[in-house]
Amino acid sequence: MKAINIGNLPIPVPIIQGGMGVGISLSGLAAAVANEGGVGVISSAGLGLLYRNFSDNYLEASIHGLKEELRLAREKTRGVIGVNVMVAMTNFVDMIKTSISEKADIIIAGAGLPLDLPSFLRKDSITKLVPIVSSARATRLICEKWKTNYDYLPDAVIVEGPKAGGHLGFKAEQIADKDYSLEKLVPEIVSELRQFEDKYNTSIPLFAAGGIYTGEDINNIMNLGASAAEKVPLQMHQDLRH
Ligand SMILES: Cc1cc2nc3c(=O)[nH]c(=O)nc-3n(C[C@H](O)[C@H](O)[C@H](O)COP(=O)(O)O)c2cc1C
Repeated sequence: MKAINIGNLPIPVPIIQGGMGVGISLSGLAAAVANEGGVGVISSAGLGLLYRNFSDNYLEASIHGLKEELRLAREKTRGVIGVNVMVAMTNFVDMIKTSISEKADIIIAGAGLPLDLPSFLRKDSITKLVPIVSSARATRLICEKWKTNYDYLPDAVIVEGPKAGGHLGFKAEQIADKDYSLEKLVPEIVSELRQFEDKYNTSIPLFAAGGIYTGEDINNIMNLGASAAEKVPLQMHQDLRH
């Protein structure tokens, strides 16, 4: 697999580790993935519970927890570390502002449309912004709004299909429906992104996620136009089943 860039950030192994909330993907897993050359991702969901010894106030404990997890990850790796933030979380804004002020390499935002995400960047911010989408329509909406309102385009996009673990956006019967498959979504989103890439002379890599387990799966989805993949370690799925 070829190295890839997210903005000006080089990713030696073009795989993003899926963020997993409430204590599953923290600094340990993220640093291990980053040390292998991928993007390690700390999930910001539920940090206030994990750090409740610091404060009874969930919001304060979450901010402290995210700072701590980023610091611990930095102690263990010089690789690329991202933070997963779900738009639907009550402390979305806190987690975004903290990720940016602590200079996380990337924010990955899903579970809702992060339409105002670029508004939190400051002049000296280095954090790259990567939305998670599950349709070409959402991709277009985000690109249009970001460009019009903030003169910004996503540094990369992640598409999560119906087979993504923990994903809530699809109905059960859509999991096996070819019309909703990742194989159908990827070319649609690539063609949407291509219009913005051509118009603004930029590059927006697409990472595909959801049911991608093996190197062959990665190869197949890249043949459909994805630049790379986002996945949770297979072992996680196996552990969660037991
Ligand atoms: C246990 C678990 C927890 C997850 N938690 C989050 C989360 O907090 N935020 C999020 O955006 N996605 C979450 N996801 C989705 C993953 O980040 C990832 O996008 C998805 O699992 C990729 O597909 P795959 O499971 O087929 O590899 C979670 C997935 C699992 C299995």
